[in-house]
Amino acid sequence: MNKRILTGITTTGTPHIGNYLGAIKPALELAEKYDESFFFLADYHAIIKNSNKVEIEESVKEVALSWLASGLDPNKSNFYRQSDVPEILELSWILNCVTAKGLMNRSHAYKAATALNSSDEDKGISMGLFSYPVLMAADILIFNATHVPVGPDQMQHLEMTRDIAGRFNHSYKKTFELPEAITQTADKIILGQDGRKMSKSYKNIIPLLSSEKVLKKSIAKIVTNSLEPGEPKEFNNCSVFSLFTHFSSEEEQNELKESYKNGISWGDAKNKLFKKVNEHILPIRDSYNSLNSNKELINDLLEEGSSKVRPMAKELLSEVRESIGISKIS
Ligand code: ADP
Ligand code: TRP
Repeated sequence: MNKRILTGITTTGTPHIGNYLGAIKPALELAEKYDESFFFLADYHAIIKNSNKVEIEESVKEVALSWLASGLDPNKSNFYRQSDVPEILELSWILNCVTAKGLMNRSHAYKAATALNSSDEDKGISMGLFSYPVLMAADILIFNATHVPVGPDQMQHLEMTRDIAGRFNHSYKKTFELPEAITQTADKIILGQDGRKMSKSYKNIIPLLSSEKVLKKSIAKIVTNSLEPGEPKEFNNCSVFSLFTHFSSEEEQNELKESYKNGISWGDAKNKLFKKVNEHILPIRDSYNSLNSNKELINDLLEEGSSKVRPMAKELLSEVRESIGISKIS
């Protein structure tokens, strides 16, 4: 059995440093070690959270460019849009029919949304949000991915995928591999400007594809305490230091720790962080700018990507249809 790695990014908003360090970069590194890799734009997931057409269109482009500019090689990895592989949606329906409603009731994403409601628990909750883990299971199972790199927040969805796959295998015939999550430890969670997890939902992001000026500004906005220059500072639990560790060597980190002890000003500490992030992002930004001026190329790449993977999806789906009795009358 080939080892297949697969992951998707929902196309809402512009990718941030957290997405890059937590998802894109590790996935591209893993792609080197696996037999096959599948990376996709989860655009049907995006409409669960966002009904603004222009924002979705913009985000699809930005997420695609982020993958490519970060080094995804479409000749080595399968790269496609979820919506270009309609077999995923067909499988999603079939999986809905073997998924217990109780399993979905336990989804963190759904529970978090209902928790915000007071009198009417279901206010603002669509069926899309409720059955979101089933669509995610279909994304993974349609290609029988063996390994799925995801952030810690997605672990539950992977457990649900295994549960759904197991139920299908048990009810019909063994069709699906039970995929394993590859996740980073909680200490790898990238913190945003306000010290919480960096997330589009919290509007605390440092964008990946920004100009130098915007990058500098968003780093300047990181909230720190009010210690003055000259006063010693603590590097533990400091967002500036924590971000710095992802872009620097141990030696550079030791130097910065020393500067904290010696009372470096927050402005200078942020400047050091900016320099390191900027240095790392420079080639990504250059590649983004050149790709951005050639939109046809991106469309062509995505089209080629889906035409490569669709035959695999069709094959699996016809096996599934056969198993469930949706087949030619004989
Ligand atoms: P957001 O929280 O901004 O909406 P997504 O849920 O679209 O981000 O996440 C896409 C991928 O990036 C997932 O694999 C997720 O685990 C990862 N990711 C998102 N935010 C972070 C973060 N702050 N640190 C590490 N990984 C992250
Ligand atoms: N739900 C994931 C997120 O919000 C994105 C996603 C959709 C995904 N389908 C997937 C990730 C399949 C891994 C595998 O981050």
